[in-house]
Amino acid sequence: MTFDMETATARETYQLLIGLVAPRPIALVTSMNEDGRLNAAPFSSYNYLCTDPPIIGMGVTNRPGGAPFVPKDTARNIRRTGEFVVNVVTEDLARQMNICATDFPSEVDELEMAGLTTAPSQVVKVPRIAQAHAALECREFTTMEIGRSRIILGRVVAIYIEDKFVDPAGPYVRAEELHAIGRMNGLGSYVKTRDAFLTMPRIPYEEWKKGKR
Ligand SMILES: Cc1cc2nc3c(=O)[nH]c(=O)nc-3n(C[C@H](O)[C@H](O)[C@H](O)COP(=O)(O)O)c2cc1C
Repeated sequence: MTFDMETATARETYQLLIGLVAPRPIALVTSMNEDGRLNAAPFSSYNYLCTDPPIIGMGVTNRPGGAPFVPKDTARNIRRTGEFVVNVVTEDLARQMNICATDFPSEVDELEMAGLTTAPSQVVKVPRIAQAHAALECREFTTMEIGRSRIILGRVVAIYIEDKFVDPAGPYVRAEELHAIGRMNGLGSYVKTRDAFLTMPRIPYEEWKKGKR
């Protein structure tokens, strides 16, 4: 079947896109409001967009059912304080990440609800999650307001990664050992990456011409 996106409802559009643009990495974003109150929430409309300069992007929809422009706490905090940290979501943090997605009132600290603690970041004021094995410290590069959403671009200013997950030769991330998880659809489905790697180096053109594949 084919869905005409001109006539699809917002719910259909959401369900189809998040089921097909998958698996997606999950950013568990810590941010702070202007009074220093900490917030944490996961976002899977997230990826790195370029490396020179190092820019990541994520899409944050406004609060459902609210007035047209009531942003989620994460989007509002980033707009007001200009900083955030993307904590990488791994298998061991899945349950806590899901608790952080609960629609708690603004004054509730999601990290406390999830039993997570923080550690100071290197460059930005917003702390990273102590239990996260890797984190990207970001400064807001720009925010675009598009329809009911904000697309936030962040410039990565520092990267924390536990030593054991770095192969200094590259440096490469020991991704097979990190066990990141990805989001699959709106039915609460995720993928694990443990024991799921397919290694397929790119083919240099010279080798291709020789018929070696
Ligand atoms: C795995 C996962 C991924 C999510 N991705 C997004 C997303 O990309 N954009 C979005 O607006 N909400 C997303 N959400 C929902 C938010 O996490 C949720 O609305 C959260 O309560 C927002 O918190 P805040 O108001 O503290 O920022 C996701 C939830 C989960 C569980």
